[in-house]
Amino acid sequence: MSDLKEKDEKYIWHPYTHIKSSASAIPIVKGEKAILFDEHGNKYIDGISSWWVNIHGHGNKYIAKKIYEQAKKLEQVIFTAFTHRPAVELAEKLLSVLPGDFTKIFYTDDGSTAIEVAIKMSIQYWRNKGGNQRSKIVAFRNSYHGDTFGAMSVSERDVYTLAFRDKLFDVIFIETPDGINSETIQTTIENNKDEILCFIYEPLLQGAGGMKMYGAENLDPLLQYLKKQDIICIADEVLTGFYRTGKFFAGDYMDTKADIICLSKALTGGTMALGVTACTQKIYDEFVSDDKTKTLFHGHSFTANPLACTAGVASFDLIQEKGFLKGVENIITHHQKFAKKLYSFEKKNYIKNIRQTGTIVAFEICTNENDDYLNDVSDQFTSFCLKHGVYLRSMGNTISVMPPYCTTSK
Ligand SMILES: Cc1ncc(COP(=O)(O)O)c(C=O)c1O
Repeated sequence: MSDLKEKDEKYIWHPYTHIKSSASAIPIVKGEKAILFDEHGNKYIDGISSWWVNIHGHGNKYIAKKIYEQAKKLEQVIFTAFTHRPAVELAEKLLSVLPGDFTKIFYTDDGSTAIEVAIKMSIQYWRNKGGNQRSKIVAFRNSYHGDTFGAMSVSERDVYTLAFRDKLFDVIFIETPDGINSETIQTTIENNKDEILCFIYEPLLQGAGGMKMYGAENLDPLLQYLKKQDIICIADEVLTGFYRTGKFFAGDYMDTKADIICLSKALTGGTMALGVTACTQKIYDEFVSDDKTKTLFHGHSFTANPLACTAGVASFDLIQEKGFLKGVENIITHHQKFAKKLYSFEKKNYIKNIRQTGTIVAFEICTNENDDYLNDVSDQFTSFCLKHGVYLRSMGNTISVMPPYCTTSK
């Protein structure tokens, strides 16, 4: 065993890793575009963009240069009394492309904290407004919004949250709309409508809940209905943002826009941890008051870190380059072809539920076990792929492929 591997096993506890059954972590020493290199020079295609974050590929020289230049000027500063160019520039750029009438950017550290802020903003919006107090939150079945307590509370009660279940706050769960169940969903909302403060959803794609996909044509009327009831709609685009579904944001597929949107993952091109919770003026205005208790009491030591914001601005520059969309289209075309090829395996009952949206393709491997995260095929699948030079992390028997957009046909 190499020195790094040995010390890793001795000192480090890895996320989402079953300690007894998982293979030890492979030391990665370099990344170049879609390829990761281990310490022995073995190459692996990063088939899930390093947990869905990386869009331009690894070791991007332009982003690295911008981060380096910023690090020499200002690496970090408290974001209460102070501001800085990278934060302002990134906010301005985001507001010009976000799907909706968003006017304010609140910076956070990652996807989970972006969700925490969205929930806190919504709860406090109603409190600050005064009058009729709303207390209920609605979320989709199978949703995943992160691992902090608020984010877990609005996520499916599955194996991820099993140990913490009695510490989570209650949420009304509804099915994702499929065009047939709209009456049932509307009845649930109708029965609680004056008490519901917000609805949180992953638009078009439920990622960690099993890469489940559903259509904009069914989500749009639901959002329209919820907005009529004055319910705050929170779009969790932590995963779907930045062309994952083929458009800049999944929200671009719908006419009805969210009141709050959460971003992270590809926000910095996948280079640094950063989150954003953006809201409309209507939400923000309820926090503008002489009453100091109406302040949004939330912030992190590294809120709007200048290096992370710089990476965000640099990633934006790359997105606006001529060839960027070609990369996205290339992945989409290949996924469509790949999905067609997979149908012959579906016919043989090796796999099922082949689906694709934008740059993501997914399916389940048929096994004798339950279709869930604990399905044992996962470890076998990952080690099989690694042997063939590809890194794919399945979630139980659910396989998904979403490489960086710079991945070539070769
Ligand atoms: C839709 C969605 N929301 C929130 C999160 C949480 O983000 P983070 O892992 O950065 O906390 C994730 C992470 O996978 C996600 O897919």
